Amino acid sequence: MTSMNKTQLLNELKKEVEECRRCSLYKTRTKVVFGIGPADANLMIISEAPGYWEDRRGEPFVGAAGKVLDELLESVDIKREDVYICNLLKCRPPGNRDPKPEEIKACTPYLVRQIEIIAPKIICPLGRYSMRFLMEKFGLKDEIQPISKIHGKVFEVKDLFQSIKIIPFYHPATATYNPNMKEILKKDFQILKQIYGEDFSFWR
Ligand code: URA
Repeated sequence: MTSMNKTQLLNELKKEVEECRRCSLYKTRTKVVFGIGPADANLMIISEAPGYWEDRRGEPFVGAAGKVLDELLESVDIKREDVYICNLLKCRPPGNRDPKPEEIKACTPYLVRQIEIIAPKIICPLGRYSMRFLMEKFGLKDEIQPISKIHGKVFEVKDLFQSIKIIPFYHPATATYNPNMKEILKKDFQILKQIYGEDFSFWR
């Protein structure tokens, strides 16, 4: 698939998601937060759900957690504009409560299509909800552990056409209320840096 085709497919999917009423979150959302970044990104960062500012702006990670994410990416010389960033849920849960199972079930077919179109080499789930969903999706159910045990570990899965590395991280919002967390996240991002720096042409 060329990057033009991928962009077109993502744009079509975005239009579909903007009309979505599969769960009750459409009633309280201001904007759908579909995702942002290059359609042929090597790295996808998949977080949990939009917060207040994301819901207002229709873009992921534009609030306080976004500042932490920017700092983490900068610390490893990865440009934010080279990364595709999105969430498990495309609409904000009121009051930033945790996603409900029925919301995850309703919304994640969109995420799966995003992953299929982009076909990234590396996926970083941020936080326990996206970690759990992605590990289940990629056949790593038996390896699931609490995020406190699993953060920074690299899992390699073979999909039909390529191998994908999955590296779960803590959610960056944890660093906004626990300063020690930023140091842990920074260390984990060093692992991502190493892998991101590898030559992807050998991976197929
Ligand atoms: N937290 C998330 O999980 N996603 C965002 O887009 C912003 C904050």
